[in-house]
Amino acid sequence: MIESPQGRPPVKGIVLAGGSATRLRPLTGALSKQLLPVYDKPMIYYPLSVLMLGGIRDILIISSSQHLDMFQAMLGDGSRIGVNITYAEQERPRGIADAFRIGAGHIGTDRVALVLGDNVFHGPGFSAVLNNSIDRLDGCELFGYPVKSPERYGVAEIDAAGRLLSIEEKPRRPRSNLAVTGLYFYDNDVVELAKDLTPSARDELEITDINLAYLAQGRARLTELGRGFAWLDMGTHDSLLQAGQYVQLLEQRQGERIACIEEIALRMGFIDADTCYLLGKELDASSYGNYLMDVATRFAASALG
Ligand code: TTP
Repeated sequence: MIESPQGRPPVKGIVLAGGSATRLRPLTGALSKQLLPVYDKPMIYYPLSVLMLGGIRDILIISSSQHLDMFQAMLGDGSRIGVNITYAEQERPRGIADAFRIGAGHIGTDRVALVLGDNVFHGPGFSAVLNNSIDRLDGCELFGYPVKSPERYGVAEIDAAGRLLSIEEKPRRPRSNLAVTGLYFYDNDVVELAKDLTPSARDELEITDINLAYLAQGRARLTELGRGFAWLDMGTHDSLLQAGQYVQLLEQRQGERIACIEEIALRMGFIDADTCYLLGKELDASSYGNYLMDVATRFAASALG
């Protein structure tokens, strides 16, 4: 068992990486959506890096039986990057809130962070944003992002203190432009709440129903990810390509990689510079591997200086 940062009560992580990915066909005929390339790395690196930036090291990956082996072959038990990764099957896409039924044993008596396997979050100070939300978590913490067409999303309304006032799924007349993103923090009550859910008209266990239950108790908050932040999902051909282009543009311009899980592991103190260097050396035919070796060398030099 890995300890949480600063003696904080543990938060378990879940990456939901199943689904049917019908909108990405024929790309997803045989492949898992969350293993598709997003510029220089597989899609799942992006949500995984979000949990790691929040200091979360005990992570369950949920996917279909057809694809679990491939995730496991790629990430193993996570020890190479200083985290503990386990795997569980979702028999069919029964809805996002199904993650808390499948993951009940993994969550145990702890709190939990769920991230959707096809979401990218990127922006300044994101690690601090995540850690603040975890520190003040009492009930549920959501993350909202201003969008041009809110009627296509779950839409949240908040007061000046960030307390959730309403949440509506794909409303015809949205009360705000804040879309609810695919990152959710909950206290342990979520396990019981998920057990009590009944499937919706589209036969899914809805995450919105969980959020509404916390809202009814007055224990739901939302942090707005403002200007300068990127929240992208990668559910369609266009959005997948755009996410790749976004990553390419920033990485080439700044020379720093987005969602590089080995670098994050190093900066979060999950692994040391020597380990990071060796992980890079294994990939040294690629620019990704060279980047890791360079990051590790610079990190070690700055630690010494
Ligand atoms: P969606 O984009 O809502 O669904 P999908 O990935 O099946 O795609 P499509 O609409 O094209 O058929 O799912 C969001 C994320 O949650 C995605 O990473 C898949 C995951 N997911 C599951 O793992 N299990 C589920 O039961 C659902 C509904 C989603």
